[in-house]
Formats: sequence, structure tokens, C-alpha cells
Amino acid sequence: MTPTEPEKKQRSYATAITVAALLLVVLLTCVPYLVSIALAEGPVQGNAADASPIFGVTIPAGYKQWELIAPAEEAAPLDELRAVVGNQTAIEAYQAGKLPFPDGTILVKRAWKRKQSPEFASATIPGAATTVQVMVKDSRKYASTGGWGFGRFVNSKPVDEAQHRTCFACHDARAKSRDYVFTRLAP
Ligand code: HEC
Repeated sequence: MTPTEPEKKQRSYATAITVAALLLVVLLTCVPYLVSIALAEGPVQGNAADASPIFGVTIPAGYKQWELIAPAEEAAPLDELRAVVGNQTAIEAYQAGKLPFPDGTILVKRAWKRKQSPEFASATIPGAATTVQVMVKDSRKYASTGGWGFGRFVNSKPVDEAQHRTCFACHDARAKSRDYVFTRLAP
């Protein structure tokens, strides 16, 4: 027996409701994952053990692909090669000569031991990575330290609290007029 028109309609309603209910279940199941993905892609990520004391700053994802602001050298005893890189917000602020830096700015200082090029005696190249230092701008969260959160990492692990107490003091004493940032955009 072929179904009548009203019967057909009823069935397609039932199907539509079932599909809608299934979609809702799938959506609700996915929400926690989507939220965790969204959070993980924020400017600072990682678990608490990887966060700096005092500030809770972590090594930002993808910083090795960030644009160069300036290279630097540190004399003995550290005797290092360095490069300060920044996220898009940082680069745009630098290019526009904008001070203070806007919230969301992240600056990362990479550092390496000096190494003589194996191919060319007078050339110096990066040896082993020594530290990664991070400054994150959040003017409300870090109001008591000029709006900057600090993190210093060795082998991806944050150094102790005592070292983190020194960061703002030195940046404050020497670079206050430049929003506590020493590095200028390399010409
Ligand atoms: C005794 C002074 C001093 C202390 C302490 C200090 N810094 Fe710096 N910092 C500097 C100087 C000078 C530069 C720029 C030259 C260079 O790149 O080495 C700099 C550069 C930086 C930069 C690049 C942005 C900028 O300001 O040029 C970051 C990021 C940074 N420091 C993070 C930290 C963190 C994190 C700490 C604490 C663990 C810290 N600093 C402690 C002096 C200091």
C-alpha cells in the first residue's frame, strides 16, 4: 500500500526532527573540544607547569616562524647571539612607531651560544639554544609591571621565581620611556 500524502509529510517531519536531534547531540559533544582548541590557539598556551612563576606566561606557539625585529649580541660571560622576534601585533606596532605597545603584543628573545662556522673561520653562527625570553602585553592583567608579563625558559621549562623578580626591575630602570622595551626595529 502506498502511503497517503499526509502520511508522507508526517514521516518527513519525523525524519527532520531525528536529524535535528542527532545534529544537536553531535554539536554538544563537540563544543568542549572546540573550546579547548580555541583556548590552545590563544597567545599563551601550555599547561601550568610550563608557565612562568608570578606571571603565568608560556612559550607562544609558532614563535620560530615570527618576524625578526632585531638581532643582538651579548658580550662575555654570556657571549651569545640573539634575535628578538614578535607576533603580528608587535610587528605592526613597530612599523607604525606605536608606543605603548597594544595589548596582545608578544615579544620573544631567542638566544644561542656562538659557534664558529665549520666552513668559514671568520663566520659566527648560532650554536645550542640557551634561553627563550618572553614579554606579553596585557595592560590589565599585568598592571603592576607596566602591563607586561615576563617568562624566561631554559629547555622549554620556566626558570625560578627569584629570576622572574628581576625582569621588570631592569626593564623599568632602563627602558621605561619606551614602554619597557629595549629593542628597536632593525633598520
Ligand atoms: C639587568 C637587566 C635585565 C634583566 C634583569 C632582564 N632583562 Fe630583558 N632585556 C634587557 C636588555 C638590555 C635587553 C635588550 C638587549 C638584548 O636583547 O639582550 C632585553 C630584552 C628583552 C626582551 C626583548 C624585548 C626588549 O625589551 O628588548 C625580552 C622579551 C626580555 N628582555 C625578557 C626578559 C625577561 C623575561 C626577564 C626576566 C627573567 C628579563 N628580560 C630580565 C635587560 C634585562
